[in-house]
This record gives sequence, C-alpha cells and structure tokens, in this order.
Amino acid sequence: QDELSLRPKYLREYIGQQPLKEELAVYLQAAKMREEALDHVLLFGPPGLGKTTLAMIIANELGVHLKTASGPAIEKGGDLVALLNGLEPGDVLFIDEIHRLPTAIEEMLYSAMEDYFIDIMVGQGPTARAVHFPLPPFTLVGATTRPGMLSKPLRDRFGIINSLEYYQPEDLQQIVVRTADIFEAPITKDGAYAVASRSRGTPRIANRLLKRVRDFAQVAGKEAIDTDLVETALDKLRVDQKGLDDTDHKLLNAMIDFYHGGPVGLATIAANIGEEADTLESMVEPYLLQLGFIRRTPRGRVVTEAAYQHLGRPVPEPKD
Ligand code: ADE
Repeated sequence: QDELSLRPKYLREYIGQQPLKEELAVYLQAAKMREEALDHVLLFGPPGLGKTTLAMIIANELGVHLKTASGPAIEKGGDLVALLNGLEPGDVLFIDEIHRLPTAIEEMLYSAMEDYFIDIMVGQGPTARAVHFPLPPFTLVGATTRPGMLSKPLRDRFGIINSLEYYQPEDLQQIVVRTADIFEAPITKDGAYAVASRSRGTPRIANRLLKRVRDFAQVAGKEAIDTDLVETALDKLRVDQKGLDDTDHKLLNAMIDFYHGGPVGLATIAANIGEEADTLESMVEPYLLQLGFIRRTPRGRVVTEAAYQHLGRPVPEPKD
C-alpha cells in the first residue's frame, strides 16, 4: 500500500477536524447546487495533519480535476501558465507551501484568483509583449504551515480560511484502526490507542509508527498488534510516552544544559543541535508548544516545568 491508498477520498471517510469538515460540507454542497466553482480555500496548520488530503477530497467531492503544485517549484511566470493552462471550469488547483511562492508569481495569482485571468510578459527587449490569458472559473486551494508568512493581499483573496488542529487521541485511534484495516494487520483497540497517544496528534506520524509496529509484530510472529507490542516497538524506536523523539529530547536537553532552560533564541538552539531554525520552527516546536513543554517569550524560548518533569530532570528553583 502506498501513501495514496491510505488517504480518504470523501469527506465522510475523513476522521477528525470536525468543525472544519462541517463547514466544508456546506460550502461544497452550495457550490455544487449553484454549479459554480468553490471559493478559494486556504488551509493552514502543522505538517502531516491532512491539508493535501483535504484538497484531494475537495476536488473529488466536486467531481472536478485536481492539479497539484508546490510554492517553491513555481519559479517563473511560464510555470504558472503551464499549471493554469488546461484547467477546466470548476477544477481545483492545489498549491502546497503557498507561503514560499516567489513574489512575482504571487502577484500574478491576484488577478487569476479574483477575475480569472493572468497577464504575462512574453519575449525580451523590443519584442517583449504582454499576453492576456483568460482562465475558467477555478478553485485555488492553498496550504501553508506558516500562515504568518502569507502576505495580506494573498490571504485576503481566499474566501474560506481554516486551520487544521492537532488530532485528539480518540480520532487518531480511529485513523490507526482504519489504516491497520487497509494493511490487513489485526490490531486491538488499546494497541491502536497506544500508537495514537505517541503520534503527536498527527495522522502522518500515526500511520508511519503503525507501519513500524507492524514490522515488529510480523517478525515476532504476533497474531494481533496489542499495547505490549506497541510499547516495546516504540521504545525501540525511541519514541517516548508523549511521542517525543530524539530531536525533541536533544532540543529540550540542550536548552536545559546550556541555557538553564532559557530564554534562548531559536537560531541559537538550532545551531547548537545542528538543525535548521526553519525546521525547528515549523516541524519540531509546534508540538512542544502544544504540549506546554516550551513557551515563547519576547526574549526567546523557555523550557517549562512540565518538560523538566517529563524528562525526569530536577526542576530548577525559580529565579527572581
Ligand atoms: N488517514 C490520514 N489522515 C486521515 C484522516 N483524517 N481521516 C481518515 N484517514 C486518514
């Protein structure tokens, strides 16, 4: 099974994100009843929560084609034209990492989104001329992990703006059961919950951990994946009770060992543990913030008491 076959195809199969699903269901139905293109949709939230899956579901539910692209891969006007060219009325164009679109491309999108045309310059020097491309009505679905990095003019052109939230363990448990079913790998309810509770509220991680746990079950000759097996396997993978991995531990321990728990700037920590500041900010830090293991302050990041306790390290005396 590849990743694609794990993705739900219809909204009713999509587990979790209840408020977002309810809203989208209305907009999808209304657009279908009016036989209009759905308004442009902006989805933001941490990686792995299902933004791409939702874009696929939107196209599927509308019964239209989906074209996918990624912000940094659209470098020139011609790349955008190639994408928009061939769109049929009502089609969905999905742009992942839309905050990383080059500015010039972003500006070309304004008229495409608002009035369904783009003007681009073709040729160079004296033979350069503007070419006007009319477009059919279409829906842009943009996804970003960094809503703060989207320019206001771009953001303002989305009629539907929604965030995806970390999943509740019960929702993730359902997702694990569903995926195990697709794998034809028997799993107990508790086993699925054990995987869920170490998956950082993230389906992508839950499905990845499930695959590894399934490997352990297979080799151990286990009939069904149960809590015991999950805990043994995930301990071996060094994914702890809260789903923290080596990178999280490295980050928290470095903050404690070298900066007395902070405040310390993100770039400083990044250099210290040999990670990109960007990666820390978009992939590592959000879940630690969500757990309440670190706090952001104007002077930098601070490790919280809860984190010291989780790591089994002595909580320092409060300074004044
Ligand atoms: N697989 C990954 N994410 C999912 C979701 N939200 N619902 C159902 N299956 C999924």
